Amino acid sequence: MISIVLPTYNEARSIQEVLRRASEALRKTEEGHELIVVDDSSPDRTAELAEALASEIPVRVLRRPGRQGLATAVVAGWSIAKGDVLGVLDADLQHPPEVLTQLADALRNRNADVAIAARSGPGGGSAEDWSWMRRLSSWTARHLAACVLPRTLADVSDPMSGMFIVRVQSLEGVRLEPTGYKILLEVLGKAHYRDLVEVPYIFQARSLGSSKLGLRESLQYLAHLGRLARSTGQLRSWMRYAAVGFTGAVVNVAVLTFLAERQAWPVGWALAVAIPLALLNNFFWNWLFTFRTPQALGAEPRAGVLRRLVHYGKVCATGVALNASLTLLLDWQGVPLPLASAAGVTLGGAWNLFFNVPSIWRSWDSASPHSHSSSWEGSGNPELVSTGQASSSHRKAEGGGGR
Ligand code: GDD
Ligand code: MN
Repeated sequence: MISIVLPTYNEARSIQEVLRRASEALRKTEEGHELIVVDDSSPDRTAELAEALASEIPVRVLRRPGRQGLATAVVAGWSIAKGDVLGVLDADLQHPPEVLTQLADALRNRNADVAIAARSGPGGGSAEDWSWMRRLSSWTARHLAACVLPRTLADVSDPMSGMFIVRVQSLEGVRLEPTGYKILLEVLGKAHYRDLVEVPYIFQARSLGSSKLGLRESLQYLAHLGRLARSTGQLRSWMRYAAVGFTGAVVNVAVLTFLAERQAWPVGWALAVAIPLALLNNFFWNWLFTFRTPQALGAEPRAGVLRRLVHYGKVCATGVALNASLTLLLDWQGVPLPLASAAGVTLGGAWNLFFNVPSIWRSWDSASPHSHSSSWEGSGNPELVSTGQASSSHRKAEGGGGR
């Protein structure tokens, strides 16, 4: 049985249509389903309108006193659900309920553990033309999550989706304690799952009612990211990565100053030695310390090391270019070399931390047996039938998530 929770706050204008369409979409799966509306005492009587349909379709309403937030509403709904598959659907019709049929299919017939309706991928997108401000803030929010939770989000293109389903099994022993809006982030961070499928869809413009997302929700989002990063151990890897970067900065500045000032090399030549040395330093410490690849030095085939190294160099190339340019520029302006170099290294490092974390993590994790398999619905990805094991972040979460 599939249980879908619809969190509502003042959705009187769309609630009946969304319930009818969701029920219709789930009927096509030819298995039992229930819809659970979790309403936070909407003054517009959303709850009554939902209850009025109870004679036609399997719907229940859970009423909560006062507005308590989207994500907790979902958890409350799941806690009274009877299905072996749990899901969420926003009630404002921005997520077409018809996609539920495909989501259910991904779990039942393709053996996925999580299925997400995604705004990206072939055929996905947004119906509205977003202003560049809105696009930038949406990108920043997503990028921030990808940096703070690089392992959790490595295989997911729309981790903020308001429509997904997950097997109850995957949530066994998991304590979901989300705040704010992003229930899916919490599920991806803590659930035990192996295969994930994303089904592209077009996010509709909101034609009825209004969005409830405000500043409060944005701040809660940041706090939520922080808590997940800590509880999944990803904050620790990130801090190690930053610490290693700091040692690289010291190597860079010291070698450059030594070669240029003590050995009187031209600054350009000295840079050409100092930067690669710093990169090598970072590479090896990240290998042994940040990511602690189980087969540390020696055990890994040489080709594997080289491949990682080349990839690492490529990913870091922009940071390197920024570092070298700023150092040369400041040196040319007469700034003392150690200072010029420190500025260059800081710029390059900041660039790396802000833009490269997801791809660096991916390059490390993908070569290990930890990664999930994921695919687009309809892409015919043969990886779907996976024999891999749960990712490390999930195994960590099994310990209660407290680290
Ligand atoms: N029970 C309850 N309590 N429901 C709430 C609350 C609350 O405090 N706040 C919002 N909701 C309900 C709304 O009534 C709606 O059904 C759903 O949660 C989504 O709220 P919107 O305000 O429409 O959110 P959005 O469209 O800006 O963003 C949604 O879609 C995005 C894209 O998939 C959310 O689901 C985002 O998390 C998601 O990223
Ligand atoms: Mn909405």
